[in-house]
Amino acid sequence: MASDTKPPLDDKHIDEHDWHSREYVQHWIDSDMTRDEERRPILRRMLALAPFARDAQIDILDVGAGYGLVSEEALRAFPHAHLTLQDYSELMFEHALKRLAGLSPLTRYVLADLCDPAWTAKVGGPFDLVVSGLAIHNLNIESSMKACYRGIYGLLRPGGLFLDYDLFGLVAGGVQTHSKWLREAGFERIHCIWEQAPIAAVAASVPSPK
Ligand SMILES: C[S@@+](CC[C@H](N)C(=O)[O-])C[C@H]1O[C@@H](n2cnc3c(N)ncnc32)[C@H](O)[C@@H]1O
Repeated sequence: MASDTKPPLDDKHIDEHDWHSREYVQHWIDSDMTRDEERRPILRRMLALAPFARDAQIDILDVGAGYGLVSEEALRAFPHAHLTLQDYSELMFEHALKRLAGLSPLTRYVLADLCDPAWTAKVGGPFDLVVSGLAIHNLNIESSMKACYRGIYGLLRPGGLFLDYDLFGLVAGGVQTHSKWLREAGFERIHCIWEQAPIAAVAASVPSPK
């Protein structure tokens, strides 16, 4: 039966990734590393919004850190930060370990699945800054992405900031829809820093104490 009704987001399978397959991870890295230099200026622009002194010993979490490109830029912006990388792929962490070797002795790697409600307890916190790159869209379904935003909100200190570079445009409504979900999670001052659809960089703040 023909219908022009879109399937609910929950039923929409957006992409096919196997982050536990050595072959897939190597394939992704071989093709994506070629885009690292394009991504760096946007990531730097995004990180420039973080309201912390360069020498501050802030706590940073990288959600879905993968091979560590966003983490690397975060450490270059805040070299004294205590950085936690979270991901569920040991294979991606193997690459992050090599990339970040020698950058900071205060780096932790936490293996946790964002679909497991225990992921927030596993990463600990609280954090001053949460960053993420091309990760949360992998959750594919609306309820999981919303739960992830709520989890991130709960991990941040009052006045903390979430900076997310992601494929927002893969979800119906794009940045607008994600901004609504972030607002529902508790974030305020949500704004799009840069967009080249389907990719965008978004900032969202945790209210400061009055
Ligand atoms: C496209 S890579 C991005 C890596 C890195 N953040 C970057 O910007 O280059 C997506 C990452 O998200 C991770 N990921 C996807 N689904 C996840 C989940 N459910 N829990 C934890 N990590 C997940 C993958 O393992 C992978 O490392």
